[in-house]
Amino acid sequence: MIDARRLERRILFVSGAFVLSLFALVLLANATLSMGLPTCVTDIKPFDKGELMGGASNHYELRYVARMWRFEPADVQIPVGATVDIYLSTADVTHGFEVPGTNINLMAVPGTVNYARVKFDTPGDYEILCHEYCGAGHQNMESVIHVYDPIVAHSQMAVQPVEVVSNHPGYHLLEIKACLACHSVDGKPGTGPSFKKLYGRKETMQDGLVITVDAAYIRESIKQPMAEVVKSFSPVMPTLSVSDAEIDQIIAYMKTIGTNK
Ligand code: CUA
Repeated sequence: MIDARRLERRILFVSGAFVLSLFALVLLANATLSMGLPTCVTDIKPFDKGELMGGASNHYELRYVARMWRFEPADVQIPVGATVDIYLSTADVTHGFEVPGTNINLMAVPGTVNYARVKFDTPGDYEILCHEYCGAGHQNMESVIHVYDPIVAHSQMAVQPVEVVSNHPGYHLLEIKACLACHSVDGKPGTGPSFKKLYGRKETMQDGLVITVDAAYIRESIKQPMAEVVKSFSPVMPTLSVSDAEIDQIIAYMKTIGTNK
C-alpha cells in the first residue's frame, strides 16, 4: 500500500522544483537575452509629458505618455547600440505598448509608471503599437523609434558646403543651428532638401499633397518638421528651438539664394 503522506511530500517537492526552475529561467532570460523585465516603478511619479532625455555615454531615458489616441513623443531618433530606459505613463485610460520585433511589451495603467530597459542593436524604424482596446481611436495609436547608424548619418552630413559663405544673418543662423549639416545652400544633395532656389518651388509631400514652399511652409517645417515631409526625403529632422524672428531671417536669406517666383 502507498504511503499517502510520502506521496504527498513527493508531489509537493516536484511542484516546488518546477516553480523554482521556471523562476530561474525567467532570471536567466533577463540576464542573458537582454530581455529587460517590465517593472512597475514607484520612484517616478506618473507624468503627462513625453520626452527623450539624456544621450550621454549612449544612454537615454525615454518617457512615453499614452493618451487617447496617440503616444507622446510621436517620433524619436536614437543611435544604434544605445541603451534606452523606457518609462510609460498614461494620461487617461489603460493602454498597451508593444514594439513588434522586440521584447518590449508594457501596459500603461492609470496611476502607475511602467519601465523596461532596451538596447537597439539594429538600425531601422521600430513601430510602437497600442495592444489594449482603448476606444474608437485605438487603432490609430502608434509611434516610431528611428534607430539610426551615426556613422552613416555622419557621412551624409559630410555632404555640406564649406565654400559658400555669406554675411546674411539668416545664413549665420543656418550655421549656428546646424541646419547646414543636412541642407546645402548651393544645390548639393544632402539629408534634407537644398535651400537653393527652394523658395517658391512646388514640392510633392509624402502624403501626395503638392505645396508651394512659402514663408508659412518654411515656418511650419522648422516648428513641426515631421508634419509635411518632401517626398524622397526621410522624416528625420529634429525639432529645433528657433524663434519667429529668427525664422523670418532664415526666410529672408533663402529668398537671396534663388526663388521660383
Ligand atoms: Cu490605446 Cu488602444
